[in-house]
Amino acid sequence: MIKDIIKLLPAAAVVLAGCSNPKTQSSCSDEDRFVDSVVNSLTIEQKIGQLNQISASGVEEMEKLAAQGLLGSILNESNLDNLHRIQKAAIDNAPHIPILISRDVIHGYKTIFPIPLGQAASFDPELVRHGSEISALEAASDGIRWTFSPMLDIARDPRWGRIAEGYGEDPYLTSVMGAAAVKGYQGDDLKNPQSIAACAKHFVGYGAATGGRDYNSTFIPMRLLRNVYLPPFRAAANAGCATYMSSFNDNDGVPSTGNKLILTDILRNEWGFDGFVVSDWFSIGEMINHGFAADMKDAAAKAINAGLDMDMVANAYVDHLQDLVKEGKVKESKITEACKNIVRIKYRLGLFENPYPTIPQSVKYAGEHLVAALKTAEESAVMLKNNGALPLKNAKKILLCGPMADAPHDQLGTWVFDGEKEHTVTPLAAFKQSEYDVTYIPGLTYSRDNNTSKFAEVVRAAKSADAVIFVGGEESILSGEAHCLSNLNLQGAQSALLAALKQAGKPVISVIMAGRPLTITDDLKNCDAVLYMFHPGTMGGEALVNLVSGKVSPSGKTPVSFPKNAGQIPVYYNQNNTGRPASGHEILLDDIPAEAGQTSLGCTSYMLDTGFGPLFDFGYGLSYTEFAFSDFKINQTEFTSDNDIIEVSFTLKNTGSYDGAEVAQVYVRDLVGSITRPIKELKGFKKVFLQKGGSESVEISIPVSQLKFYGLNDVEVLEKGSFDIWVATSSANKDIKWKTTIEVK
Ligand code: BGC
Repeated sequence: MIKDIIKLLPAAAVVLAGCSNPKTQSSCSDEDRFVDSVVNSLTIEQKIGQLNQISASGVEEMEKLAAQGLLGSILNESNLDNLHRIQKAAIDNAPHIPILISRDVIHGYKTIFPIPLGQAASFDPELVRHGSEISALEAASDGIRWTFSPMLDIARDPRWGRIAEGYGEDPYLTSVMGAAAVKGYQGDDLKNPQSIAACAKHFVGYGAATGGRDYNSTFIPMRLLRNVYLPPFRAAANAGCATYMSSFNDNDGVPSTGNKLILTDILRNEWGFDGFVVSDWFSIGEMINHGFAADMKDAAAKAINAGLDMDMVANAYVDHLQDLVKEGKVKESKITEACKNIVRIKYRLGLFENPYPTIPQSVKYAGEHLVAALKTAEESAVMLKNNGALPLKNAKKILLCGPMADAPHDQLGTWVFDGEKEHTVTPLAAFKQSEYDVTYIPGLTYSRDNNTSKFAEVVRAAKSADAVIFVGGEESILSGEAHCLSNLNLQGAQSALLAALKQAGKPVISVIMAGRPLTITDDLKNCDAVLYMFHPGTMGGEALVNLVSGKVSPSGKTPVSFPKNAGQIPVYYNQNNTGRPASGHEILLDDIPAEAGQTSLGCTSYMLDTGFGPLFDFGYGLSYTEFAFSDFKINQTEFTSDNDIIEVSFTLKNTGSYDGAEVAQVYVRDLVGSITRPIKELKGFKKVFLQKGGSESVEISIPVSQLKFYGLNDVEVLEKGSFDIWVATSSANKDIKWKTTIEVK
């Protein structure tokens, strides 16, 4: 088939030239020969065409550009007929290079999975891989072969709305989940027509936006960048991620889209990446707003010279690269290189052989996809509190209330372009199908609703119910891109409704569907149990019924620390120790007498009102059942090489009365380093499902290379010394089950 396409290419293209891919220079592959042949035959205008990505406009216009070979990729077009016309125009006309069709398939295409932050709470990378595989299959049935996912931005600030789109605050968890997503989208071979290219975004630092305000500047020093923000992107490169997206932010003055250090020196030269980098939406043009480029032409030069291959919608490359070459400001070889990077991925995707979709339409919302979405929603739910109200035992009459109890659009979460709310199973729909006798009175119609006029009716109904299930949180539009908040309390009159419900004297179970950890500190006293579901996607309602009924025991763990209030942000578990670490016995606001004199009491790192720790620690989550750990072993306590493996093993037993899962977490503390080191860092975890009474011996392996970090000289090192290592059920010290010290000699 490739030969058929080659037949269409100009004669010069068929000459199998030398290799240009630096990774394979010594052993020129068929791929290299093909890419070189195609690209070397192009005019400069056609090469620039490949670097051009546009958003869907009129189909005739797109067809024309494609026929002229001036289009490399499109996004936001999902009409199959239009896509066929555009692809045909590209294939039928010189230079016969297929268009790469892209879309934001973020947590599902039609079948919507929980938002990525929720998926992270599952601590189950296989669920993430499988969900991404399903998303790829459904998207590929509509001709989409490239998604702008996974988002790997470490987010320590839940005011930032995009925290919903990533895997939370931890570099290790984000690396594991990100790599799983890449594998799911891309499969074993991108050529498989059901796989789609992944895009690791936003490269890099975007989640550290000042004050949690989207698009804001970041100030991440190199060591922090290396040790916290870059690792997930490196893991994605190791997993074979085909593309990267530059981020909107400037870090310490340099916008990512024009940052050669990031895009070329680190990504390509250090990590050996040979796919392509796309800008974020118009981010080449935004370098003018940043005051980093004088005009669009200058911005185009800065981007291509930094190593940015594809221009998303700014038209900067199409409008200016030819002139920049003539003026000697950009070398044509830069354009050729970028073009090859893009054609290489098209080749790997098998687009030259199979430019049109071959996956049947019937895969959308397939039964097994819904089952996978249900399981992911169940495993993403974190039980934050339970005073015995859950699971529902003798309760038959349920009052279902709250603004998210029947919100088919909002429970899907942010970044849903293709999933249809008609397919959503809401809590109301699921309860109606259940054994419970359910009364539904929402009380509030949407999350920001301040109208309390229905409260009396809701409380009356609560009094005659056995239990109350309040489903609240935030609408999908309150998180995601550009949707940042300074107040993270429940919106509208939701807290007032919870307080009113408490007065009815019946168990109140709060279910929160949200795009971020909300500050529910003051609401906890009004809830007998809290299940945090994030935005759970299509199957959220059924997952909820399975959880509250006890059919499934909650097993999610928080992928991010829950702040007590917004003023406490940033609060994250893997911080450095400071010279004055909080002891946990500090004086608090109410302990201070009036007219208190100056005192050195409490001069440690904490806040007078919130104390030191968060409301809920990273890695925390309750279950209906109980687990006992025993027989801890470690393979050795002295290690000498970064090829060594630390093997921690133990027996885990389900000692409670429900089937369930525990997430065993291994943390490490490097006691003394050439720079100050985090007080704890997650380095391994395993989610273990056990039937009641069941037990299993569990082994968690941690390569010693994971103890490396970028030290004093900005070089990655394995430093000699002592490391505490422990197994726990959360990042909180109280949840440590076993601890030892190892030496790196
Ligand atoms: C977002 C990206 C997204 C792109 C394309 C931008 O505004 O930052 O995450 O992939 O748009 O829709």
